Amino acid sequence: MSTSRAQVFLDRNRTIAPISPLLFGGFAEHMGRCIYEGIYDPGSPHADERGFRRDVMEALRDQAYTVIRYPGGNFLSGYHWLDGVGPKDQRPRRRELAWQSIETNQFGTNEFMEFCRTIHAAPMLGVNMGTGTIQSASDLVEYCNVANGSHWSDLRIRHGVREPHNVRYWCVGNEMDGPWQMGHLDAVAYGNKALEATKMMKLQDPSIKTILCGSSHDQMPTYPDWDRTVLEIAWDHTDYLSMHYYAGNPDNDTASYLARAVHLERFVDTLEGTLRYVKAKRRSQHDIYLSWDEWQVWYKGDPMQGNWKEAPHLAEEMYNLEDALVVAQWLNVFLRKSHILKIACVAQMVNTISWLHTRPDGLLKHPSYYVFKLVSNLAHGEALDLHLKAPNVETKQHGAVPALDVSASYDPETQEGAVFLVNRSLTDTVTTEFIWQDGQALQIGKAWQLSGNDPKQGNHWDAPEQVVAKAIPAPAVESGRTTLHLPPLSFTVFTTCPV
Ligand code: AHR
Repeated sequence: MSTSRAQVFLDRNRTIAPISPLLFGGFAEHMGRCIYEGIYDPGSPHADERGFRRDVMEALRDQAYTVIRYPGGNFLSGYHWLDGVGPKDQRPRRRELAWQSIETNQFGTNEFMEFCRTIHAAPMLGVNMGTGTIQSASDLVEYCNVANGSHWSDLRIRHGVREPHNVRYWCVGNEMDGPWQMGHLDAVAYGNKALEATKMMKLQDPSIKTILCGSSHDQMPTYPDWDRTVLEIAWDHTDYLSMHYYAGNPDNDTASYLARAVHLERFVDTLEGTLRYVKAKRRSQHDIYLSWDEWQVWYKGDPMQGNWKEAPHLAEEMYNLEDALVVAQWLNVFLRKSHILKIACVAQMVNTISWLHTRPDGLLKHPSYYVFKLVSNLAHGEALDLHLKAPNVETKQHGAVPALDVSASYDPETQEGAVFLVNRSLTDTVTTEFIWQDGQALQIGKAWQLSGNDPKQGNHWDAPEQVVAKAIPAPAVESGRTTLHLPPLSFTVFTTCPV
């Protein structure tokens, strides 16, 4: 172990953009045990009268989610929304083809809305562009958003929901570029279908915002032509372009894995360029932003096929410290790209590809749970355009990258700020000096750190608090400067406030 030095220069007038609150969203798919046994488990002693697990609701509220994407995912492309509404004893049991599971439909659109209210998050609904039609998409908007006096709005009222849900955010299909997707289309066919679907959906409710399927990830053979093509066709009725990406460390190359932010930023940059290109080509005044509505670490090889069981265990990743440090960098990227990135949803929220796992007798929180909770609760106001001077670390996949990955926020209304730092060095403590250049007095409020000696260290049912965020002493600020020692393999957060 050795020590190196870094400096972070901040100025609360030097901002990137307002941080969209919707960057702290989640994704709940009918996949594995995310919905059933995760969110909704009426047989559990932990369940409330609606069947929601109380311990899960509390953990999700603590994470301060702002928006929830639902019901899929690949599930969406074979889903008939009518299966999931109305009396529960009349809802069909279906063979769910995406995950080869049995879908009981005991949880559907109205239960989802109740769930969103329970955790104080806004809903973001998907319409099926695989087996679904533009008519079924339009009908779902009518069912959800029209007050009364029409076929679908009155059906909602007969289902016991008097007030419209007023769903603002709508995903127009899921990963339609992927050959694995039920009803997969090429870019021109999807662009045309999405254009007509969004036209009808906005005729139902002009206030909605629509999210077009971008590429499923940046290694798709059709990337980024897919994105350009669908944008050129569906530009006029689109508000966001979706991004999906799952990170992993399959080669056990931790140094490269911990530099993944480099790759994530490039993905955003390419799509930002694509948006600018299409806007110019269309001679448009309209702006479209990015919605990173599936992101997470996912590579550890848990099964993905349910063998026609209800709520099978699928993709239940056990996360560790290095995964948490990648999540922390991802959130830093969201802040650094806050001028173009306006929505993000972690995939997923409970059990499936999630940092929260349920058992009948309890709830396990992986290290990345604590990372997200800190950032979602503290990153408010404006993202700051900070300047970092740091030594480099060498990586096989990304070359030389700075040892630190940093972002910062400042809220002019409350005059409170926060700084988020990953030390991605495997060996070096980085003694870091923070220099505020705007001349306004401030002090450090609180500080936390999540760290460990072993990147593979994690939390387990028999040792559930091995890697958690711990409060650390807040250093004094003198003449606009303070210093922190950032251990290797660590995530550090501190808040700032007026003196
Ligand atoms: O989140 C799991 C799956 O990953 C989603 O269903 C799909 O959209 C993506 O490929």
